Amino acid sequence: MIKTMKAAAIKQWGSANEFEIIDVPLPELADEDILVKVAYAGVNPADWKIRAGFLSDFLVNMTFPCVVGLDGAGIVVATGSNAGEFTQGQRVLCATNFFHGKPGAYAEYLVVNKRKVTSIPEHMSFKTAAAIPTAGVTAWQAVFAAEKDALQTGQKVFINGASGGIGSFAVQFAKWAGADVATTCSDTNLSYVISLGSDLPINYKMQNIHTEINKWAPQGVDLIIDAIGAGSLGDVFALLKPGGRLVSIATLNADGDVQRDIAEAEKRGVTKIYASINGEQIGKDLETIVKLMASGKVVSPPVESFELDQVIQAHKKIEDGHVRGKLVLSIFGEMHI
Ligand SMILES: NC(=O)c1ccc[n+]([C@@H]2O[C@H](COP(=O)([O-])OP(=O)(O)OC[C@H]3O[C@@H](n4cnc5c(N)ncnc54)[C@H](OP(=O)(O)O)[C@@H]3O)[C@@H](O)[C@H]2O)c1
Repeated sequence: MIKTMKAAAIKQWGSANEFEIIDVPLPELADEDILVKVAYAGVNPADWKIRAGFLSDFLVNMTFPCVVGLDGAGIVVATGSNAGEFTQGQRVLCATNFFHGKPGAYAEYLVVNKRKVTSIPEHMSFKTAAAIPTAGVTAWQAVFAAEKDALQTGQKVFINGASGGIGSFAVQFAKWAGADVATTCSDTNLSYVISLGSDLPINYKMQNIHTEINKWAPQGVDLIIDAIGAGSLGDVFALLKPGGRLVSIATLNADGDVQRDIAEAEKRGVTKIYASINGEQIGKDLETIVKLMASGKVVSPPVESFELDQVIQAHKKIEDGHVRGKLVLSIFGEMHI
């Protein structure tokens, strides 16, 4: 029986250079957990913020060496006593138990609660699957689940930060729901966001966002999804129609004065929702997303893969903030069963 595994870990908070490839104990399975042999681990902006220590207040159960990584795809190798719905050899994509003090996905094996797992459809690669969980579910919940309001056909949606992980999914989800979609990105990503379905691509480096949105939606837009952070849109509430909603994805390092902004929104007759991923919904939302992808209605964003021992390079890239689509780390790669 294997007792240790190779992992990319940090021994203290700090820069990307803190990563070392070391042997760590295999994580233990709780009753509702499954153990997954990791093909690919997703790389998210949260990973570098965790590594740098910005989220240390939330990580009270964490011990060093710390194996980060919130998303994985791989093969089920063991199930807890109350996770019999999953079977050995099954191909799955999942979140991890990282926020419960367990190692994350930058390792040969991960443990995850069964409610944060779903099967990979037949023709989807592990690499594509590993890119979905955090970005896809956060985008899904931002577009559809905020205050349980579904998006209506013909509504106008503005997605700030459309070429990254969340944006790449959010644009497609909103278009699939029948919305008209405006987006921001830099010049290098304009044709990319058009390929995702953007009706109004705005180059945030060259164009005035308010002028462009005002021409496109003179009454204001119904929904804004901001994946960039407070201050990136100036007077953001002026872009909404009366009763409109701003879903601000919690960046945890650029959120401004959230309570003040929520109160200001209310005074202006709009709503600001400060949104974080709802962990309880991950398995269910993942299932819906992969079905949409399997049917071809939503396509995978471009996914760039780094080897596990290139983790420092991957972290420098995600921290720079200009990834198009998603990054993943290859652990066992495309395993064949
Ligand atoms: N709280 C939660 O539960 C949760 C969950 C997921 C993500 N998040 C947070 O949400 C944020 C977005 O995540 P992500 O995965 O989408 O990030 P990402 O993939 O790293 O986003 C990168 C993209 O952002 C674009 N960008 C950078 N600056 C921009 C600007 N000023 N205006 C418009 N676009 C800009 C870049 O486009 P260009 O190269 O063209 O500039 C790039 O394509 C992060 O802060 C992340 O931590 C929070």
